[in-house]
Amino acid sequence: MSRSSHSSCFIFLFLSLFLFSFPSNSFAGEIEIEGKQIAHGGNGSPGSIACMECHRLHGGGMPLIGSPRIAGQPRSYIEHEILGVREGTRYAPIMAGVVSHLSRKEIRAVASWYAHVRAPKMPDVSPPDPTLVPLGKRIAQKGLWKKNVPACVLCHGPDGRGIPPHFPYIKGQNKSYLLRQLVAFAFLKRSDDPQGLMRGIARRLSPKERQAVAEYFSSLAPPPADGLPDPKQ
Ligand code: HEC
Ligand code: HEC
Repeated sequence: MSRSSHSSCFIFLFLSLFLFSFPSNSFAGEIEIEGKQIAHGGNGSPGSIACMECHRLHGGGMPLIGSPRIAGQPRSYIEHEILGVREGTRYAPIMAGVVSHLSRKEIRAVASWYAHVRAPKMPDVSPPDPTLVPLGKRIAQKGLWKKNVPACVLCHGPDGRGIPPHFPYIKGQNKSYLLRQLVAFAFLKRSDDPQGLMRGIARRLSPKERQAVAEYFSSLAPPPADGLPDPKQ
């Protein structure tokens, strides 16, 4: 055998080892393709609505109709929220009808899609309120010790960029959505948070303090694409 055919043999061997040692990559790829189809056109069952009707194809959300951005949230967080909506631990009537048609596999697929895509910040319904942003920033970074409210960044990461897989990012999220979630946690319309972590915190904030943190986190840019969590998590 000539020297060059030896080396092509090695290259072939190397390539096949490489391909066969990563079967999960192509599986993840298929899942994302199926997820994109669901995001784009629903799953084909009667009454199924495409996620992009409300969250856009790249997950930037629609502040005007109260739909959150979901681009780049950890996959397991997105799955957990959809299951929460289905099981009723999250009161979200608009979403409930939409996700009742999905199988577990489809939920995983569409969650992988949205974990993987990136989107710029969508304009909020109103600009950040400069009289409340400083208070929001103080609570976010230092908490309110007298009220036993820890700094938000302890769990949501520096600037609220998230700590995957359990702590979602909140920086750059739509203002009205952030406020609605804090109210939902405080008044127990959302109870899917582990150990009631968020319910206790949201309840101890006054309406003005809830508004202030929503103003602050929505005034920031969403996490940069390269700083977002690993989409496979
Ligand atoms: C008709 C509009 C609509 C459609 C279609 C829709 N959503 Fe939603 N979605 C919403 C709204 C509104 C909320 C906020 C609910 C709330 O206030 O708790 C939401 C919330 C969510 C959340 C929670 C986000 C977070 O940060 O906790 C996820 C995840 C989500 N949707 C995923 C999806 C997926 C995946 C699809 C497609 C299978 C989909 N949605 C289709 C309107 C929609
Ligand atoms: C002890 C940890 C912890 C602290 C401190 C904390 N959070 Fe959270 N937060 C969580 C967890 C966990 C979730 C996700 C709950 C779930 O899985 O549904 C969450 C979810 C949220 C959400 C919903 C995000 C979404 O996409 O729907 C908002 C808004 C939020 N937190 C705001 C805050 C603010 C504002 C503060 C500071 C006042 C704060 N959090 C402090 C743990 C924490």
